[in-house]
Amino acid sequence: MRMHPTLPPPLIFLLLQPFLCSFHLISSLSSPNPDPPSSAPPILDIPSLMSKNGCKAFASLLTSTADAADSYSSNLDSGLTAFCPIDRATNTFLPLFKNLTADDKLSLLLYHAVPLYYSLRMLQSNNGVVNTFATDGTTKNYNFTVQNDGEAVTLQTQVITARITDTVVDRDPVAVYAIDSVLQPPELFKPVAVPVPAPAPAHDAVADSPKSGKSGRNHTTPSGADGPASSENGKSAEQEAADANAAASSRRLFAGAAAVVVVLVASF
Ligand SMILES: *[C@@H]1O[C@H](CO)[C@@H](O)[C@H](O)[C@H]1NC(C)=O
Ligand SMILES: *[C@@H]1O[C@H](CO)[C@@H](O)[C@H](O)[C@H]1NC(C)=O
Ligand SMILES: *[C@@H]1O[C@H](CO)[C@@H](O)[C@H](O)[C@H]1NC(C)=O
Repeated sequence: MRMHPTLPPPLIFLLLQPFLCSFHLISSLSSPNPDPPSSAPPILDIPSLMSKNGCKAFASLLTSTADAADSYSSNLDSGLTAFCPIDRATNTFLPLFKNLTADDKLSLLLYHAVPLYYSLRMLQSNNGVVNTFATDGTTKNYNFTVQNDGEAVTLQTQVITARITDTVVDRDPVAVYAIDSVLQPPELFKPVAVPVPAPAPAHDAVADSPKSGKSGRNHTTPSGADGPASSENGKSAEQEAADANAAASSRRLFAGAAAVVVVLVASF
């Protein structure tokens, strides 16, 4: 660059400054920064990834709660599995969230991440209790149970059961999955009565039977009772179908016989 001879040097500098600045900017943009090793993985922006994958509402709760966002990002190297409720779930939950104290809001957000990396395959094949960022080491609270349900993976908190609906990112040591419900820890929300997973044992069934049994009869032969479907109007659908079939075939039979008769008559 040539300097204009008639201008005093400070003025020239002032005139040139915008160009110098932009030149500097361009050169720093275009030249690859040699300092970080090229093998370093790009920094994952967890809330942004969530936001772009159906969890915008949850991502904005995260970013507006600094301590929560920091916990998530400080575990990106050591291992992180996060679960983001989809927008429909988060928006439904929002009134309950707003009712929580600041501490409890933080706990709820921290409850959605586990300080270990789990691929989907690992989640599908390992059932059990996991601790979260909200877990206090001594009491081991704020945990939930990973339980696979066929190919699907569910997270059970004693209050609700969420299901993984999508993989947002899975790049060891970081995984983020979308889930269909907000995880509500029993520490903050009333646990629901655990539904009885298996039919009640025999002695309970006896006590229950008078209520459900019709006309006070014993339920000792259930298979016999509902064997042939005997509807009040008489024939079952199966029987009617069978009858119709029989009628049709007898018509065919009759037509065939008539034809034979006609042929016989004609031959005389
Ligand atoms: C919020 O808390 C108040 C007081 O505990 C309660 O009356 C209200 O029903 C709560 N709102 C929701 C949406 O749960
Ligand atoms: C899970 O959390 C409950 C408290 O909600 C605690 O009593 C229990 O010991 C924890 N279980 C495990 C396996 O850490
Ligand atoms: C039901 O069966 C028990 C024996 O299993 C019998 O003592 C009882 O009388 C029966 N009740 C009725 C209503 O048939």
